[in-house]
Amino acid sequence: MSSTEHTAVKNRFLDMPADDFAEGCKLLQAAALGNKTKMEAILFKRPRFVDFRDYDRRTALHVAASEGHLEICKFLLTERGARINRSDRWGGSALDDASRHRHKQVITYLRSLGARPGSASKATNYIKAAADGDINEVEMLLMLGEFDVNEGDYDKRTALHLAAGEGNADIVELLCKNNANVNIEDRWNNRPLDDAKREDRKECVHILLRFGAKHGFRKEDIGDSTTRRREISNFKVTFDELEMIDKIGKGSFGEIYRCRWRDIMVAAKCIRSAKVQKEWAIKQVLNQLKDGADVDDIINEMDEADIPDHDKQKALSDFRQEISILKSLRHPNIVLLLAYSTTADLEVMISELMKCSLLDVFKAHIINGTKMKRKDKIAYASQLAQGMQYLHTCKPVIIHRDLKPANLLIDQSGVLKVADFGLSKVRQDPKQNEKETFMMTGETGSYRFMAPEIFRHSSYNETVDVYSFGMILFFLLSGKPPWPNDNGIVAARKASDEGDRPTIPRSWDNPLQILLQNCWDENPSSRPSFHQILQILRQYTRTVFPSESENFLATSPIDQDKGCRCIIM
Ligand SMILES: Nc1ncnc2c1ncn2[C@@H]1O[C@H](COP(=O)(O)OP(=O)(O)O)[C@@H](O)[C@H]1O
Ligand SMILES: [Mg+2]
Repeated sequence: MSSTEHTAVKNRFLDMPADDFAEGCKLLQAAALGNKTKMEAILFKRPRFVDFRDYDRRTALHVAASEGHLEICKFLLTERGARINRSDRWGGSALDDASRHRHKQVITYLRSLGARPGSASKATNYIKAAADGDINEVEMLLMLGEFDVNEGDYDKRTALHLAAGEGNADIVELLCKNNANVNIEDRWNNRPLDDAKREDRKECVHILLRFGAKHGFRKEDIGDSTTRRREISNFKVTFDELEMIDKIGKGSFGEIYRCRWRDIMVAAKCIRSAKVQKEWAIKQVLNQLKDGADVDDIINEMDEADIPDHDKQKALSDFRQEISILKSLRHPNIVLLLAYSTTADLEVMISELMKCSLLDVFKAHIINGTKMKRKDKIAYASQLAQGMQYLHTCKPVIIHRDLKPANLLIDQSGVLKVADFGLSKVRQDPKQNEKETFMMTGETGSYRFMAPEIFRHSSYNETVDVYSFGMILFFLLSGKPPWPNDNGIVAARKASDEGDRPTIPRSWDNPLQILLQNCWDENPSSRPSFHQILQILRQYTRTVFPSESENFLATSPIDQDKGCRCIIM
């Protein structure tokens, strides 16, 4: 049932008598002028007006943040308990207002209290408000009726799942009364009752049962439980098993270390603030102290090992996402996950240790003024296409969404493997037509390699990976990144707004020119599949390197007598 049919919810401010409404508007005016005395006088008579909304659904906090009145923001939030993440008519939050007008102190202050940017999607704001326990926001958004009460996020987690898991009983009751589906399943086949029971939210359990809730049938529960237990214990990593050697990379949510684990060298990607990283920071600090380093720098290093709670939540969700996808993947062109831990404060992912990234190889060639051999270019492109063909034929399909040279790693024998599944998504419905599109957030990954439909926040499907492949192939063939003179955002804007594409030299072999043009076609459905791409690359190889065996594409571009020429940067 659509939320437009709901009658139980009301916008209490718009329904109020005109005089009262005018008084609320005066409160907003006073907030705009930074007049705390006047605000106090109004709130003295009407304390509940602290969350009053005008016709545009803006609150006093929106207005104060917009005008940069830090003291008024503090007054509203800490003295009057105003809600921090309310969305206005356009989905904007108070933090968005402060950011738009660059009020740095207000931004820092709001962030320190957990303020979030709003979303143009009302459904997203609704789901977040249900998790935050903001019943008035949930009511107001439901009343607008512009989305379905059962709308879910990427993991099909609905407002009811989140409210039940957080113990927001009043919201659970409200949603049930508004005909939310009490037995709706998320991506892992969990139902709201599973969330409520797992977190021991007794009141929510009670309400859900009253509305006919049942437990979900988790996919993990199917099958031989002994095999599953063995799988879990073999994947498990403990802190004592890890010996940190050095830091080899910096990621978006943590750091990557070279480690010894069960007597082999591995890569450990860990979330900032995990025990592994803190231990590393302490080790560094002790070394630096011995060398007489500046204490301020040392404190910074320690601080970096910790992240604010709201950043950590995002990092944790990316981290879990990456593990949930990687642990089921087995392919010679996908970086192998060996073990992991999701225990609080020991969030770490152990993978095979790779030599360097394709970006490092490119940089080394640019710095040394050398060129990659044509055979190596085609071999790398083919290995990438092989890894992607596997992902796109998984059931359900896995979309990488962040293909770029830094996420393509080269192993010790020179084989290219796809890595970094932090932004990857599983296409939900296996019955869905392969070419049907669906909505995801925009602006993920690196702009230069990003398909225009992601940049524009439009709906998209797995063909976004084909577009990125096209840009990487161009980089391989030309030795230069696409749009080398523009920064990533400018490049993506040119591609998206002007339909611009890198210029393909006429001297390049015709099949490669056509392949590039098709891969980055504006129309996603005109882009080839990775199966077709591999056929084209095989045919090309047969023509250009007739003496090579069919196995050529699967082997590494390593030069047997000279070794791999890439340099770790
Ligand atoms: N298994 C690995 N072996 C060697 N280096 C790695 C490995 N995984 C990541 N790295 C290095 O760390 C960088 C960041 O890792 P990545 O998984 O892409 O993290 P993020 O999601 O933060 O971008 C990579 O570009 C690479 O240089
Ligand atoms: Mg990366």
